[in-house]
Amino acid sequence: MQDSPFQPRLMVLPTPGDVAQKAAALIAGAVRTGRARVLGLATGRTPLGVYTILSQEMRAGTLSLAGTTTFNLDEYAGIPADHPSSYRSYMNRHLFAASDIDMARTHLPDGMAPDPVRAAADYEAMIETAGGIDLQILGIGQNGHIGFNEPGSRFDSRTRIVPLAPSTRAANAGDFPGGTVPEKAVTMGIGTILAAKKILLLASGPAKAEALAAMLEGPVTPACPASALRLHPDATVICDTAAAARLSPATRGAAPAP
Ligand code: F6R
Repeated sequence: MQDSPFQPRLMVLPTPGDVAQKAAALIAGAVRTGRARVLGLATGRTPLGVYTILSQEMRAGTLSLAGTTTFNLDEYAGIPADHPSSYRSYMNRHLFAASDIDMARTHLPDGMAPDPVRAAADYEAMIETAGGIDLQILGIGQNGHIGFNEPGSRFDSRTRIVPLAPSTRAANAGDFPGGTVPEKAVTMGIGTILAAKKILLLASGPAKAEALAAMLEGPVTPACPASALRLHPDATVICDTAAAARLSPATRGAAPAP
């Protein structure tokens, strides 16, 4: 357990739609003003609404990702990038298809690399060469994971291949209709995430309430990977009322009114 020098800014909004609107506005604003030349992206259900809004803006011509470089947090191991359940396919479908982004500037870890250790080191090097991540978007797992850094992950961990917790595989089973969820993934480490200049974690729904309370109010410990964000000087949490249900009045009270 470590001291917690920082407390993420917290915004509690009524609905998942409000969370998506607020997050999309922050991301689009950062892109437009050149504060997010390098974006760290997440997949999963939580950011879908954000990607829908950003896609609408790009189709309307009010947002451009032409000069943006992206690095995703994670990818399943053992399935090819063109597998319909890969996170590459997810990103292409939900964000990049509507975007004027240069696809060569979109990066996800390689889940099929013949030498995963080397591929992970290359991913870290690419992030560094790009100048580091300006704004990292995160969701949170029901067990407190960020990226696929499951409980027990070291706070100084870097991109690497990891086993997925049974609860994570169960939570993501819907993404593999008729198939089984891979047992491993490649994920940025907690140290990689903490190196981002700014972090935005999104959470919605009652299933995230316990993890969010542990993250913001429990000990800062690898047992709750998301608690590592309390070691970052510029982290923001945007959640809906359901996800905030287990937060103490003191934590909620510190959140600005929507
Ligand atoms: C996804 C990721 C995961 C998810 C988390 C929450 O790239 O890194 O940490 O953010 O599992 O998933 P959802 O949003 O589906 O509840």
